[in-house]
Amino acid sequence: MMNSMIFKCVLLMVLSCRYTIAETKTEYPKKNTYIIHMDKFNMPSSFNDHLQWYDSSLKAVSESAEMLYTYKHVAHGFSTKLTAQEAELLANQPGILSVIPEVRYELHTTRTPEFLGLAEKTSTHAISSDKQSEVIVGVLDTGVWPELKSFDDTGLGPVPSSWKGTCETGNNFNSSNCNKKLVGARFFAKGYEAAFGPIDLKTESKSPRDDDGHGSHTSTTAAGSVVSGASLFGYASGTARGMAPQARVAVYKVCWIGGCFTSDIAAAIDRAIEDGVNVLSMSIGGSVTDYSRDIIAIGTFAATAHGILVSNSAGNSGPSEASVSNVAPWITTVGAGTIDRDFPAYITLGNGKKYAGVSLYNGKLPSNSAVPLVYAGNVSSLSSGRLCTKDSLISSKVSGKIVVCERGGNPRVEKSLVVKKAGGIGMILANTAEYGEELVADSFLIPAAALGQKESNEVKKYAASTPNPTVKIEFGGTHLGVQPSPVVAAFSSRGPNLLTPKILKPDLIAPGVNILAGWTGAVGPTGLSVDKRHVSFNIVSGTSMSCPHVSGLAALLKGAHPEWSPAAIRSALMTTSYTSYKNGQSIKDVATGLPATPFDYGAGHVDPVAALDPGLVYDATVDDYLSFFCALNYTSSQIKLATRRVYTCSKRKTYRVEDLNYPSFAVPFDTSSGIGGGSNAPTTVQYKRTLTNMGTPPAIYKVSVSSKSPSVKIVVEPEILSFKEVNEKKGYTVTFTASSMPSGTNSFAFLQWSDGKHNVTSPIAFSWT
Ligand SMILES: *[C@@H]1O[C@H](CO)[C@@H](O)[C@H](O)[C@H]1NC(C)=O
Ligand SMILES: *[C@@H]1O[C@H](CO)[C@@H](O)[C@H](O)[C@H]1NC(C)=O
Ligand SMILES: *[C@@H]1O[C@H](CO)[C@@H](O)[C@H](O)[C@H]1NC(C)=O
Ligand SMILES: *[C@@H]1O[C@H](CO)[C@@H](O)[C@H](O)[C@H]1NC(C)=O
Repeated sequence: MMNSMIFKCVLLMVLSCRYTIAETKTEYPKKNTYIIHMDKFNMPSSFNDHLQWYDSSLKAVSESAEMLYTYKHVAHGFSTKLTAQEAELLANQPGILSVIPEVRYELHTTRTPEFLGLAEKTSTHAISSDKQSEVIVGVLDTGVWPELKSFDDTGLGPVPSSWKGTCETGNNFNSSNCNKKLVGARFFAKGYEAAFGPIDLKTESKSPRDDDGHGSHTSTTAAGSVVSGASLFGYASGTARGMAPQARVAVYKVCWIGGCFTSDIAAAIDRAIEDGVNVLSMSIGGSVTDYSRDIIAIGTFAATAHGILVSNSAGNSGPSEASVSNVAPWITTVGAGTIDRDFPAYITLGNGKKYAGVSLYNGKLPSNSAVPLVYAGNVSSLSSGRLCTKDSLISSKVSGKIVVCERGGNPRVEKSLVVKKAGGIGMILANTAEYGEELVADSFLIPAAALGQKESNEVKKYAASTPNPTVKIEFGGTHLGVQPSPVVAAFSSRGPNLLTPKILKPDLIAPGVNILAGWTGAVGPTGLSVDKRHVSFNIVSGTSMSCPHVSGLAALLKGAHPEWSPAAIRSALMTTSYTSYKNGQSIKDVATGLPATPFDYGAGHVDPVAALDPGLVYDATVDDYLSFFCALNYTSSQIKLATRRVYTCSKRKTYRVEDLNYPSFAVPFDTSSGIGGGSNAPTTVQYKRTLTNMGTPPAIYKVSVSSKSPSVKIVVEPEILSFKEVNEKKGYTVTFTASSMPSGTNSFAFLQWSDGKHNVTSPIAFSWT
């Protein structure tokens, strides 16, 4: 049986995807990889050690099954390949907590330091680079291209003594590829090979080497060294550097051409904890399932419990509502915004109208004069022709013309190849309503430009209005100072949080559109096999790109405040982020052109300089997360699965998700049961929070609430908190009294504590469901 599967974007990068995998083997009966959690606290006394116990449990159901990995921190247990029947048998053995089938996940910068206010002076002044260089950022991704200048270790001191990791040897990679910047590199392929068979060494390296580009991009964004004269074909030229240029990088390759498998991800997190990373960056798509069965949630919990801040991408499924993934409350979930840089391309129609799009094309122009224009939907043999899908265009109608192709369906750069193959000489990539005015720049192989929805409609209208439409494309290089910026990217995944509606996600946004950072030498900037160009830097977009910005900034904060917990660092990043432009207008959503909301940007856009000195933080410990599980009515065995801890919720205590010490507020009102609606009586709910003073005492903070919501009354008690010591904690309650509103209504407010010097701001999102 030949089963051809086309995977969707495997990385949370809004780039072209070239993951076309032909599955030729079928095994009978089919075996899949499972992750087995054992009950560490109940190992029968007949066993001497855990490995022996695992082995015996496994052998009881399958003679041939071998362990892929054993886990220590993420789970107490192992992974192995089993038939469905064997898995069921195993689940019923004594001492087995769960048998979870493996999931395949999708992986979901010159300008950004300036855009974030991290110009050279500010950062060196505020953050001692000695301390920054003690911080190690672990990146779970597609590996690394170690020859990049971004991994130059000139000027860095010795590798921190806390580091216990290593540089693994494999194809095209050995220990000499690591240095004082790239301090560790490992690869995890057992789950991948269990699913797809042995890695084809002709197409990918069985080693930490990056054959894709994504991992080199994310790791250099987080902590790449300073490289002057960086650009992509002259676009975005300048000095490139990661957010924490003194911090160290350790890469964990878990994503392969066929995807990222949870057995590999769990093993990598396990090792990263053991190795001693301080920050973990994961631009990998997760699911939104019960925390006790979600390997990313379980793994990141273990990391957080070890004091590691975990930053995850929110996903590229926007602008649909409730599309955010990686929602566990110990994760920092990052959405994407634009920066103030653009790569304009000008489209002049035969009627004299001129429109601005974007492009990273750097080749020759087809002609200096106007050429014929056609709409793909009218020169195609297929109904999907308007998208310029493979072999859909009729050569005789396309030859020598510029073709309007609609965005969506197949990868953007692939469309330009389809046009080229049919004899077309250029392309206009037309946004549809789904993408609005969001423009993502690509290094097309033919003259081409991306155009917003409104202007695309004008171009199509013009093409239909005249028998011989013509067009001219010109390219404008790099343009800085684009306003307004940031705007929320259309692709950035949105709240509300479907799994736990009382926790607001995403947490914040960071730059994720048209980001310049390091690239692999194995493939060209488009990732297409026909693209033979080689670049050290590439410009790509996605929440995959915004996530490592926050990882790097978290490393800056960790360097400045080594004693801060992951929750304190996240709180500082969130409560100091901003939600409006300098002129006071709210940050916009490019998908609608309207003001964005906390469901789009969480607490707002990250402001790292302010985050260094947040005044107060909302801290949280493992105990707080255990109480959170009690509030979700988790059983002891579910808690054990999620946290590897034996914990029994007290019968006498009231646990409430509302009281998890989170830096933002999500307040859902259930209209169906009459709460906050149905009956006309107002509903009252209370949330509790605790603030910790991180600033210089004494400090007196006053609360203020800005509400755009006439339907909810907000009362904070007490209204003044005074702190006499560093690390002193003070609690408060917020009472929300809501009138009834129709189901589907959302409204928003902000709660701010201020001492005149520090603003500690939390978003509030109300929803009537
Ligand atoms: C690592 O690879 C390089 C380049 O192939 C080679 O020169 C070097 O000897 C290798 N080092 C080790 C330790 O194997
Ligand atoms: C496509 O073809 C139809 C039918 O000939 C025509 O009415 C329409 O205007 C064309 N549209 C464009 C955008 O060229
Ligand atoms: C947990 O159980 C309590 C008591 O049965 C119930 O009131 C509460 O709504 C439940 N919470 C959740 C999140 O299901
Ligand atoms: C704090 O926020 C207020 C508005 O609520 C603003 O006027 C003030 O400038 C802010 N202060 C700082 C230090 O950002």
